[in-house]
Amino acid sequence: MACRRGIILAGGAGNRVYPLSKVVCKQLLPIYDKPMIYYPLSTLMTAGVREILLISTPDDIPRFRDLLGDGTRLGIRIDYAVQDKPEGIAQAFMIGEDFIRGEPVCLILGDNIFYGRLGFEDALAALDNGAVVFGYRVHDPERYGVLALDTEGNVTDIIEKPRVPPSSYAVVGFYVYDGKVAKHARNLKPSARGELEITDLNRVYLQRGELRVQKLSRGVAWLDTGTPRSLQEAANFLATIEERQGVKLACLEEIAFEMGYIDARELAALAKTMPPSPYRSYVEALLTHG
Ligand code: G1P
Repeated sequence: MACRRGIILAGGAGNRVYPLSKVVCKQLLPIYDKPMIYYPLSTLMTAGVREILLISTPDDIPRFRDLLGDGTRLGIRIDYAVQDKPEGIAQAFMIGEDFIRGEPVCLILGDNIFYGRLGFEDALAALDNGAVVFGYRVHDPERYGVLALDTEGNVTDIIEKPRVPPSSYAVVGFYVYDGKVAKHARNLKPSARGELEITDLNRVYLQRGELRVQKLSRGVAWLDTGTPRSLQEAANFLATIEERQGVKLACLEEIAFEMGYIDARELAALAKTMPPSPYRSYVEALLTHG
């Protein structure tokens, strides 16, 4: 059964970007010309996921709701759920159990930005049993979950924030799971940092022989937003492409239109609800010259 549902986890304390994160969560901060959350949401929409559960803190859920609504205007559906405390990424599957309904589900972290040909839609379509994670080569793997590989390139383990990384391949914040994910998540024990670790969940699938690992090609960008500097670098990267090509990345209205979630009439109506702005002009121009 293909995976049609997706969870966006936009929780976490955002301590590394304090005081930016003092009154709004990190995932609502700007990345160049849009709130950060637009980017992971656009990744899901582009991959064909139209049923979305956004999980965040009690304080931030109303803000996300103000920003995104229930998704109808974009031809998708966005539900919301609260994570009371930052108790780990894997907790999302317990919080989202009713949303998942025992069917395949993907999860994207609200602070992960992807650019390029990712192949996520193929992974979602092909999912039958087990889980899929994606590896990406980075210069600082110790900040992430890291793949341990044997001489033939098979994954033998995944280690969360290892002091000595076993490879340069970090596990990115986009994961696909079969319908048993909530059950497996419920059996996890909190780690030393008091969280239900996504890496521990992935290791359960690995030990069962049910984990597939795909490497993202070097032509793809996976951008980090964990620190003030990486926020700035992500903004610069996206601004460079937008300005050079005269396009907007992660323009949700454009994606909804391109994917056929809304038609030209609905796109025109959406543009009319926006204040006069370069963003509105961009959306309006899609209707005239595509
Ligand atoms: C989390 C995961 C880690 C993964 C990373 C991707 O790290 O625990 O395995 O590589 O997201 O962004 P955290 O954000 O908790 O530091």
